[in-house]
Amino acid sequence: MTQLPGLLDTEAIRKDFPVLDRVVHDGRKLVYLDNAATSQKPRQVLDALSEYYERYNANVHRGVHVLAEEATALYEGARDKVAEFINAPSRDEVIFTKNASESLNLVANMLGWADEPYRVDQDTEIVITEMEHHSNIVPWQLLAQRTGAKLKWFGLTDDGRLDLSNIDEIITEKTKIVSFVLVSNILGTVNPVETIIRRAQEVGALVCIDASQAAPHMPLDVQALQADFVAFTGHKMCGPTGIGVLWGRQELLEDLPPFLGGGEMIETVSMHSSTYAPAPHKFEAGTPPIAQAVGLGAAIDYLNSIGMDKILAHEHALTEYAVRRLAEVPDLRIIGPTTAEDRGAAISFTLGDIHPHDVGQVLDEQGIAVRVGHHCARPVCLRYGIPATTRASFYLYSSPAEIDALVDGLEHVRNFFG
Ligand code: ALA
Repeated sequence: MTQLPGLLDTEAIRKDFPVLDRVVHDGRKLVYLDNAATSQKPRQVLDALSEYYERYNANVHRGVHVLAEEATALYEGARDKVAEFINAPSRDEVIFTKNASESLNLVANMLGWADEPYRVDQDTEIVITEMEHHSNIVPWQLLAQRTGAKLKWFGLTDDGRLDLSNIDEIITEKTKIVSFVLVSNILGTVNPVETIIRRAQEVGALVCIDASQAAPHMPLDVQALQADFVAFTGHKMCGPTGIGVLWGRQELLEDLPPFLGGGEMIETVSMHSSTYAPAPHKFEAGTPPIAQAVGLGAAIDYLNSIGMDKILAHEHALTEYAVRRLAEVPDLRIIGPTTAEDRGAAISFTLGDIHPHDVGQVLDEQGIAVRVGHHCARPVCLRYGIPATTRASFYLYSSPAEIDALVDGLEHVRNFFG
């Protein structure tokens, strides 16, 4: 078995993940390399979800009965866990949403409806990058269309990094918000946050970071990042689907208007007008994703029990190994950084002129699950002149043996297509 420095004991970890024992396609052992799309869930999270429904299920913040109080304590306890996990100065800065897309849409809508000095209008500019997931492009396009603001973006270098050579022309005195991804879901690139934030701060622009592919894989400290908003999702970090997080600086959350209206987000309502509850409740209209938040809390406990530093080191070792092994495959071209430096554990590639959908299908027949397509980041494919990529992405339970299986599988794909 291949041993690499920094690896976690994946044999022990895999025992926590029942689905990883699956066999598919006539007895093939599942090799799950689609972790950037969604992670698998450990028994501890599955148990927390069923225990919640078996013992505590009630609506939160409303009832005076035992279950309502217990459910509220569990839901708010999950908020405490998230706050601690990202080193938020206050638990009130943690807003629960449905997913990272909703978190990013929330920021765009807050700014669209805001008064000065935050208001985005026809005299202002919004800055994103060409490597964003569609969830960090479309909400800003919608906002730009609605307000007349100008949408600008950083382009990409040939090796899959942000081209910041014109940073002073892209981020200007007119910029209201700079929103960008910390780790690209398609290229794997880890972006130079400090450089971008320094420039945004020079011109007084707000900064929003999409940390969907970072929060599951590395320690995340919102105070060290110095952004204004940070968005991520639960299902990529061992939690359930249906739960996302938006962290925002307290004074902003106090000043900015709500996006969705309804129960729970109000202080008083009359037929003429309403006043709003303080953050985070101002931004959580209706019955929230209670069980999902509890499941996310259990996922955070689980990740903490392993250690985010150790998970980062494990994935770095795996990524180094994968980049090296993939270089042995003839005609394989990595789309994105070709070394493990400043890159995460999602590796996209093309294989000669074999269509990625064919690559994915032949890999699947061997039990190897990867994602194929444009990965909700179509501008990246357009930039590199390709229709799609095949993407392998790793997590704390991934092993070098699975990377070997991928490389063997790709050899099989090449033979299959001659
Ligand atoms: N955003 C997820 C991915 O990159 C779905 O696959």
